[in-house]
Amino acid sequence: MNEYKQLVTTLRETQDLPSEALRSLLETDAADALLREAAEEVRRQYYGDAVYLRGLIEFTNYCKNDCYYCGIRHGNREATRYRLSQEEILSCCREGYALGFRTFVLQGGEDPYYTDEKICSIVSAIRTAYPDCAITLSIGEKPRASYQAYFDAGANRYLLRHETATEAHYRKLHPDNMSLSNRKRCLFDLKEIGYQVGAGIMVGSPYQTTEHLLADLRFLQELSPDMIGIGPYLTHAETPFCDQPNGSLALTLRLLSILRLMFPYVLLPATTALGTIHPQGRELGLRAGANVVMPNLSPVGVRELYQLYENKICTGEEAAQCRGCLERRVLSVGYHVVTDIGNVRREKP
Ligand code: 5AD
Ligand code: FES
Repeated sequence: MNEYKQLVTTLRETQDLPSEALRSLLETDAADALLREAAEEVRRQYYGDAVYLRGLIEFTNYCKNDCYYCGIRHGNREATRYRLSQEEILSCCREGYALGFRTFVLQGGEDPYYTDEKICSIVSAIRTAYPDCAITLSIGEKPRASYQAYFDAGANRYLLRHETATEAHYRKLHPDNMSLSNRKRCLFDLKEIGYQVGAGIMVGSPYQTTEHLLADLRFLQELSPDMIGIGPYLTHAETPFCDQPNGSLALTLRLLSILRLMFPYVLLPATTALGTIHPQGRELGLRAGANVVMPNLSPVGVRELYQLYENKICTGEEAAQCRGCLERRVLSVGYHVVTDIGNVRREKP
């Protein structure tokens, strides 16, 4: 026990550990309580009891890519596809703004129907209507010039999980026409342009080892992102990985705490996948160091069509008001949802 106490203290104080020590923390459950307590304290130092909301608008489930883990991959002929119009997207924002959202996340598959021109038109319409809000895009890999155009139109954040920082592992998760080097190029371009950037991984994705997780932590140190999105890998029957087991709740929570200690300033969501693998998954995430939740703002009618994995929560009629549901859940673990743009705090206040 003492041995782990020393490791957690050093991790907290120096925001780093030798890889051997990180490996031992990743591979044991003996330090989980210590990690959680330290992460919780650090999170309070930087962010108090605030939990930031991001309104997630899943505006298209068309995708040209074929990632082996993802339910909306191009090769899934069973998926019913949909796209939201600019008007529909704006109406989600209107509803969200009234509910206290000050960040809108436009997420979708890589859908060529939304040309740069269309994305810019949507972004600038939101920018004009909601000058006090952050606009986050999560629409995959694009040329640098496209990222620049969206930024100039008013987007200020971008989420693009790197998925894995290990070339060989990347190859096992993606077909040959995708590459880790292009994904990294995208992340560094986005940063240089001036976006607040989010990277991240699925915990327990097929073939993932502790070695891969260590490489992910090192890559994140190099990138120094503003946000880190992690959630458990979850199976989907209509993918090549249909027989692969789900990732683990415990390891996801352990990683959330480790991330909070290594990146004390970071915006760390308690993700929908975490809420899907366990009924109190997001609450457990908040207690392990997370400080962001991303309620679904998509029209209820399309929510179950945006199925990256099975049994996704918040898809039924009862889920029209995720905001209220999450507010109660956040309160139940001693935090408060705030009406705030929720920018990153790089310095301890
Ligand atoms: N299980 C969990 N997360 C998934 N994602 C995609 N497919 C799955 C799945 N089967 C994650 C990826 C992607 C993000 C939008 O959702 O990490 O970047
Ligand atoms: Fe969507 Fe609880 S967060 S119903």
